[in-house]
Amino acid sequence: MTNRHSVVDVGLGARAYEIRIGAGLLERAGDEIAPLLDRPRLAIVTDENVARLHLPALETALDRAGIEHVCLVLPAGEGTKSWESLRQVVEWMLARKVERDDMILAFGGGVIGDLAGFAAAVLRRGVRFVQMPTTLLAQVDSSVGGKTGINSPHGKNLVGAFNQPALVLADIAVLATLEARDFLAGYGEVVKYGLLGDEDFFVWLEGNGPALAAGDMALRAEMVRRSCEMKAGIVARDELEHGERALLNLGHTFGHALEAATGYGARLLHGEGVAIGMALALDLSARLGLCAQECPGRLRAHLVAMGMKATLGDIPGELPDADGLIELMAQDKKVQQGRPRFVLLRAIGEAFVTDDVPPEAVRTLLAESLAAR
Ligand code: GLY
Repeated sequence: MTNRHSVVDVGLGARAYEIRIGAGLLERAGDEIAPLLDRPRLAIVTDENVARLHLPALETALDRAGIEHVCLVLPAGEGTKSWESLRQVVEWMLARKVERDDMILAFGGGVIGDLAGFAAAVLRRGVRFVQMPTTLLAQVDSSVGGKTGINSPHGKNLVGAFNQPALVLADIAVLATLEARDFLAGYGEVVKYGLLGDEDFFVWLEGNGPALAAGDMALRAEMVRRSCEMKAGIVARDELEHGERALLNLGHTFGHALEAATGYGARLLHGEGVAIGMALALDLSARLGLCAQECPGRLRAHLVAMGMKATLGDIPGELPDADGLIELMAQDKKVQQGRPRFVLLRAIGEAFVTDDVPPEAVRTLLAESLAAR
């Protein structure tokens, strides 16, 4: 910890790295990154929104540190996590003569981080990269832990690689430029950490949620730090998701099916699908007698207090029926031997993974939740 930012270590031996969290890291990005560079040169990948809001500040910071830079600006949105964009990024880097020892900077939200991180994995068999996440979702989840990749027409995140960054720089101040809806979508992933392993953190969120949404910078920094600390611990113990890391998929089995049903777009953002998915996972846990009946209600009360989507009824437009949603779950990459895997709760702060859920319990839950819309 310095007086300017906090540091979370991701303890992965030879691939260990720091997550630096604090306000003003964007303006200091050149000085933060310079010690990692073999030569003073960076290839930046970003999207149009981030470029408009923050690229000038980043470029000024890099110029001040004497770091030469080239930048590729891609369209914003999930559509950019595609084979076509991967090809574009890789060919652009080759044309710009990005070498094996150079550094790539992923400057944006989850789409840019996943895409640029995957491009870094395959370019010349591997080039190092820095994550500079600009959304809450990217700061607390996608920029940390090395999951990179793109979507396939067959589903989300089905093509990718584990590729750890060399550094993560999370500037809390840039969160101020997020739309409220995007902030709250990222907040869904924050709540996940409390539910899956830290009831005290969940209680802290229940108490501080309104101030976090209103923009309190110190509280936001603490929220990102605690989320990253938790994720870093899980990743350090189970980098390749053979066990504990699967807990991070709480809410994602239902959530991915809902995202697929709504077209991966503005109808339902990823974090919104996760929030509703977590509530359904808690419903399922309660129905199976695994956790107290009050658990799902307590989660939904917090989501509603934050102005977040909490039930299937909060999703606009038509949805498939229960069998249609179950069919979409079957395409999830967490499926093992044809059985979807669920993260369920014994209590708030106590999650576990299982593929032993009676299909009828899932069907009944979905059918009743759809009927209540
Ligand atoms: N977002 C889930 C993970 O990184 O494992």
